[in-house]
Amino acid sequence: MTVIEIEGLRKSYRAVRAVEDVSLTVERGEIFGIAGPNGAGKTTVVECASGLRDRDGGTLRVLGLDPRTDRRALLQRVGAQLQEAALPDAIKVDEALRMYASFYDEPADWRTLMDEWGLTAKRRHGFASLSGGWKQRLFIALALVGDPEVVFLDELTTGLDPAARRTTWGLIRAMRERGVTVVLVTHFMDEAEALCDRLAVIDRGRVIAAGTPCELIAQGRSGSLDEAYFALTRGDGA
Ligand SMILES: Nc1ncnc2c1ncn2[C@@H]1O[C@H](COP(=O)(O)OP(=O)(O)O)[C@@H](O)[C@H]1O
Ligand SMILES: [Mg+2]
Repeated sequence: MTVIEIEGLRKSYRAVRAVEDVSLTVERGEIFGIAGPNGAGKTTVVECASGLRDRDGGTLRVLGLDPRTDRRALLQRVGAQLQEAALPDAIKVDEALRMYASFYDEPADWRTLMDEWGLTAKRRHGFASLSGGWKQRLFIALALVGDPEVVFLDELTTGLDPAARRTTWGLIRAMRERGVTVVLVTHFMDEAEALCDRLAVIDRGRVIAAGTPCELIAQGRSGSLDEAYFALTRGDGA
């Protein structure tokens, strides 16, 4: 079953054409990657799909809902960890979870989530005192607190040390095992290769390649996804 259908998406910020023409589909239960250089339009695509930003053109359906007309229903069924997400410095882990749970009609049990994601020992810690890895763990838990069917994760592991990245990969796999569809924006091809069932590479607001990691490697006539990505985004790929 297709859970996300994007066709001909367009979005500009005044003179900046952030998304020129993006089409892609995401199937239920996938980890779907979105890769591409800085400024390619990845975050804009995710914000439009998750109902946080209106589009200029194209069609968009998430769980059969149009974020433009069914925004409220959609926000109840998707979760998002956004790039450069922040919380007030002093908010405690448990307060943040309880507050986010209050945004949803049928939230998950935030105490259970806190336990499952290993946050209980940190429950009285203020946001600012958490290390990068613990902040990411909290953001994942917050993205799941509405018991969503689809989760958008935007550069979740950027800035994490290698050990914390690996831990986060395990957490992302655990999400999929619960049946959540995951859209993962990432810069890292090792991450895409390890986690993603399929991915789209976006450059200058357009999808320049899409497929399984194996398909992209073949398409880039490369030995690895990293090489394929490099060839594609330099414009000398297939
Ligand atoms: N709120 C905004 N106002 C103006 N320009 C923006 C805004 N958000 C993004 N842009 C611009 O749109 C383009 C795409 O940005 P973005 O979607 O954040 O790309 P990515 O996530 O791939 O780095 C970039 O040129 C960026 O500078
Ligand atoms: Mg971005």
